[in-house]
Amino acid sequence: MRAKATKTVAAQNMARRAEKLLSGLEQVRQSDKVAKLRFPDPAPCGKTPLTAADLSKSYGSLEIFAGVDLAIDRGSRVVVLGLNGAGKTTLLRMLAGVEKPDTGEVIPGHGLKIGYYAQEHETLDPERTVLENMRSSAPDTDLVQIRKILGSFLFSGDDVDKPAGVLSGGEKTRLALASLVVSSANVLLLDEPTNNLDPASREEILGALREFSGAVVLVTHDEGAVDALQPERIILLPDGVEDLWSPAYADLVSLA
Ligand SMILES: Nc1ncnc2c1ncn2[C@@H]1O[C@H](COP(=O)(O)OP(=O)(O)OP(=O)(O)O)[C@@H](O)[C@H]1O
Ligand SMILES: [Mg+2]
Repeated sequence: MRAKATKTVAAQNMARRAEKLLSGLEQVRQSDKVAKLRFPDPAPCGKTPLTAADLSKSYGSLEIFAGVDLAIDRGSRVVVLGLNGAGKTTLLRMLAGVEKPDTGEVIPGHGLKIGYYAQEHETLDPERTVLENMRSSAPDTDLVQIRKILGSFLFSGDDVDKPAGVLSGGEKTRLALASLVVSSANVLLLDEPTNNLDPASREEILGALREFSGAVVLVTHDEGAVDALQPERIILLPDGVEDLWSPAYADLVSLA
């Protein structure tokens, strides 16, 4: 229509109107989702809900790390940095209690309630449906609430009856994060929680993380996730060196 002079104005008007309509839709959708997602208030706990002392791990003759100490205070924010294979996932598995250290121990503090997001989603039961996975994470939460949270993670209708094993990478990520949202964890252990997420879902999660008042131990190669967390400290693996966060570490996040 643009080629013909008499139709040009009509075509331009139509395009303008379509653009306006679409941009409005996008805004409504985004704010709708963002407003819904929030981690619940963390369960009360003591001053230092999680402590680890002298943790070491080797596989055969390969030492992953040795002598790592860590104290997670209530509401504190720590980022774990290290190259692929440095032992970040191994450390989080130990803190979550799913792997035994060779030496040292993980000491739960008063009232500790861990929410663990596993990098490979091994906390999900692949045989059970989306809804069943959610119910087992929060047996006391009512079904209406569970469905509402699943809806805000974009699971609706028949989606909730799929076995977790058939879900795509991004869907598994969303389900595992939704399971954290129904728990009232006071220490979140997050192992690369923004991998596989589309930009809109990633923004939602980062927004929720920003608002969360409990403690967070975050492993990530995503600078945006570190920005959202505003960490106080970092732990560098495999050395286990602890330092205060400084912007100079930001460059290391995407490299490590
Ligand atoms: N069960 C196992 N048997 C043997 N080696 C293992 C086992 N589990 C982990 N490893 C090795 O331990 C090292 C640390 O693994 P880990 O998954 O903790 O690294 P990571 O820092 O999380 O890496 P990435 O950034 O790739 O996620 C790796 O070299 C890995 O191959
Ligand atoms: Mg890992």
